[in-house]
Amino acid sequence: MAQKIIIDTDPGQDDAVAILLALASREIDLLGITAVAGNVPLDLTQRNARQVVELAGRVTPVFAGCDAPLARPLVTAEHVHGKTGLDGIALPEPGLPLQSQHGVDFIIETLRREAPDSVTLCALGPLTNIATAFERAPDIVERVQRIVLMGGGCFEGGNITPAAEFNIYVDPEAAKIVFGCGRPITVLPLDATHKALTSRDWIATMRGMGRIGEVVASWTDFFERFDVAKYGSEGAPLHDPCVIAWLLRPELFKGREINVEIETGSELTLGMTVADWWGVTDRPANALFIGDVDRDGFFDLLTERIGRL
Ligand code: BDR
Ligand code: CA
Repeated sequence: MAQKIIIDTDPGQDDAVAILLALASREIDLLGITAVAGNVPLDLTQRNARQVVELAGRVTPVFAGCDAPLARPLVTAEHVHGKTGLDGIALPEPGLPLQSQHGVDFIIETLRREAPDSVTLCALGPLTNIATAFERAPDIVERVQRIVLMGGGCFEGGNITPAAEFNIYVDPEAAKIVFGCGRPITVLPLDATHKALTSRDWIATMRGMGRIGEVVASWTDFFERFDVAKYGSEGAPLHDPCVIAWLLRPELFKGREINVEIETGSELTLGMTVADWWGVTDRPANALFIGDVDRDGFFDLLTERIGRL
């Protein structure tokens, strides 16, 4: 039976590739997509999500969730993703309607409706929607099968401050709630995602794969500029597709079950994932923290799946 998931996301070119990867995979039953404010404001992330679903020729329902973090003003990342959040080849205004239900209510209702332990939450942006759902409906927490999220960093440090990765930094209070929820969590931090770098060859392959491949190539070309200039890296890190790839092919990844706490107090290290990689505390493990990815295997998977769309 296909794995039931909800994708919670702030597209974002790398979020968009993750959504395509999920839609292309028969092992996954994507119940719905909840948009959250993050890379760009909510009115854009929900629209971008609908554009991506439509690009894939699907009708997966898209819901708008929270438009601001729990306790702070929104920080966005147009400097990475462009003004729309999805700069690259411009996609048509989506015909797929936005669902009228709030994204948080969709998460709550879905977890109450589906069998306990059968729905995995895939978080590709700030954790505001998921934390709000947990706060509002504590009964759903124990029904969650697993949370697989892109966020944080350990040895790799941060990408929005020296200490913090963007998704956790934008809503550290939400991250604290999620990391403390007691359900199984898999974390795809920068330590892994900075190894999932696009290559010129892979982008050329995409470009030769029809309309969807061409759009994917234009997205990765766009946000590659930022990472190449900033980190001197070889290509664009496909952060968020790592979440879906871990679900499909966990053997491509290596990590450790460790304790991860979220810094919410300090001005200097706000949003840091304090990851006890070496087990120097007695704090119990609360997450599988991924440190490595088989880059070739990851890109082969993406090529094969995107080719199916
Ligand atoms: C994360 O932040 C966003 O810019 C990306 O979409 C990804 O989810 C990487 O830090
Ligand atoms: Ca994202």
